Amino acid sequence: MPHVVTQSCCNDASCVHACPVNCIHPTPDEPDFATAEMLYIDPRTCVDCGACVSACPVGAIVPQHRLGDAQLPFLEINADFYGGAPRGEQPILAKVPPPLTVVQRPVPPRVAIVGSGPAAMYAADEVLTVPGARVDVYEKLPVPYGLARAGVAPDHQSTRRVVTQFDTIAAQPGFHLHAGVEVGRDISHEELLRHHHAVVYAVGASSDRRLEVEGAERAVSATEFVAWYNGHPDHAHRTFDLSHRRAVVIGNGNVALDVARVLIRDPGSLAATDISPAALAALRGSGIEEVMVVGRRGPAHSAFTLPELVGLANTPGLAVSAAEDELDLTGADESDHALRHKLRLLRELARRDVSGAARRITLRYLLTPERLTGDGVDFARNTLRVDDGRVSAVATGEVEHVEAGLVLTSIGYRALPVPGLPFDEASGTVPHTAGRVAGLAGSYVAGWIKRGPTGFIGTNKSCARETVSTLIQDYNEGRLTDPSADAADLESLLRSRRPDAVLGAAYA
Ligand SMILES: Cc1cc2nc3c(=O)[nH]c(=O)nc-3n(C[C@H](O)[C@H](O)[C@H](O)COP(=O)(O)OP(=O)(O)OC[C@H]3O[C@@H](n4cnc5c(N)ncnc54)[C@H](O)[C@@H]3O)c2cc1C
Ligand SMILES: NC(=O)c1ccc[n+]([C@@H]2O[C@H](COP(=O)([O-])OP(=O)(O)OC[C@H]3O[C@@H](n4cnc5c(N)ncnc54)[C@H](OP(=O)(O)O)[C@@H]3O)[C@@H](O)[C@H]2O)c1
Ligand code: SF4
Ligand code: SF4
Repeated sequence: MPHVVTQSCCNDASCVHACPVNCIHPTPDEPDFATAEMLYIDPRTCVDCGACVSACPVGAIVPQHRLGDAQLPFLEINADFYGGAPRGEQPILAKVPPPLTVVQRPVPPRVAIVGSGPAAMYAADEVLTVPGARVDVYEKLPVPYGLARAGVAPDHQSTRRVVTQFDTIAAQPGFHLHAGVEVGRDISHEELLRHHHAVVYAVGASSDRRLEVEGAERAVSATEFVAWYNGHPDHAHRTFDLSHRRAVVIGNGNVALDVARVLIRDPGSLAATDISPAALAALRGSGIEEVMVVGRRGPAHSAFTLPELVGLANTPGLAVSAAEDELDLTGADESDHALRHKLRLLRELARRDVSGAARRITLRYLLTPERLTGDGVDFARNTLRVDDGRVSAVATGEVEHVEAGLVLTSIGYRALPVPGLPFDEASGTVPHTAGRVAGLAGSYVAGWIKRGPTGFIGTNKSCARETVSTLIQDYNEGRLTDPSADAADLESLLRSRRPDAVLGAAYA
């Protein structure tokens, strides 16, 4: 009986290299890896050895006989990935990325990494494969690991387990975490370069896209709401109107599903998690019975991923439905494996009668917010049009008013410019070539500040590897200046600037 990859897969591909028969795909060197919503095990070739289970940092792989009811859909989802066109001749083992090769120089690489989210931690891990290397990680918050700790929803505890992998990275010799130190405020780019060969910015995307419609200031952004339920110190004091029977979430990405689920699921089921106690108390007193998650295009353009939809549909005590007349499949390519399963599940949800359910999520489509009115949202109804193969939403002229007490916008994150670095306003990223910042020697980027705010925790692993490979190439070719000050000098500088910070510790 084969093993099966389930919902919490974060695409870090650790399992791929543990598998003795190369039956987990797509592998990082295959073209569909970049767009894969999760990885899949081929049941025809899996020899049931279990090696992938221990390699997986988030417990996403389960032997078939141990699948719970909520995980059963993944049996078919895994198998069906291999059911279409053959994947071609496979090597016996997946291709392992080549190790970094470093030339001997008087000072081994010393690298500053700004931020301690997934991109930073994977970058640190790569640098520390070099004998004698030192990494100083600067994190502005008192606790590390970025959105892996402060973004992942509290009811996704298995995904949160990825932080134990980061603890292991942080426990390596040569790793130094300076928590509570903000680069740009407490230490400058030039000072970092005096103490290191190079600086890798892995600062993420800390802001969000803003809705630009009349009354938009009445909405709460998902960024704030997530920070509130995850106990971010700057948002712990917030209060939200949870008295009305309906809330609306604008946007239908995975963050939208997270906030909708946390808002409406039985608060009792959150009590055993590390949700902020203030948020839990507020949710216990909530009068919300329905959360409407609204997309402006059709179901084929739902930004949420298949595993998250499967998880949502199987959340205990929660009824999930879709509006049948809005499942317009214009231009949908059902040869795409994940999309085919997503649409099949949406059609099934549309047939469910949830009218009597005490807690429900309704997935709505073809609605663009036009105005926030104070008692809800006016939506312009759309139809889909295909032009040159591109599907776009076009307003029909019809308007639907949806009453709601709380309106959340979940329309994507956005990076802020990093002082001293070039910034592309359109994409909200730092321009770079394979991670090297254009025109600024010794400066690199990784993660969301490099690629934009998309992808899973594990996506940052290959992204960080690319950046560190570029950095080491520059080190080997003598393009990076040796540091002019030592570690003791760095510590006294940091102590003078941030006496309260936790310096140099391996966090665990
Ligand atoms: C709400 C939410 C939930 C998510 N849930 C999942 C999930 O369940 N599974 C999944 O696979 N992916 C999930 N993701 C995606 C995943 O979290 C991201 O891919 C990943 O965190 C991006 O990594 P990063 O290192 O680029 O940025 P971040 O994780 O944002 O890390 C950036 C770090 O830099 C620090 N920083 C910023 N500026 C400075 C400065 N000047 N000085 C010092 N430190 C600084 C920040 O405090 C932060 O710790 C989620 C994303 C969001 C927004
Ligand atoms: N469990 C997980 O694995 C997990 C959890 C959370 C986040 N993440 C990842 O983190 C990344 C960020 O997620 P996200 O949900 O913030 O972003 P996202 O996936 O980019 O979704 C943004 C949504 O906002 C909509 N939108 C954008 N501008 C809009 C506007 N002006 N008006 C109305 N709607 C608008 C988009 O619709 P259009 O498509 O029509 O533009 C889309 O539905 C994603 O890659 C996600 O997969 C993963
Ligand atoms: S159980 Fe063994 S053979 Fe099957 S996918 Fe996992 S590592 Fe590969
Ligand atoms: S989280 Fe990583 S190790 Fe686990 S199944 Fe997904 S890709 Fe494999």
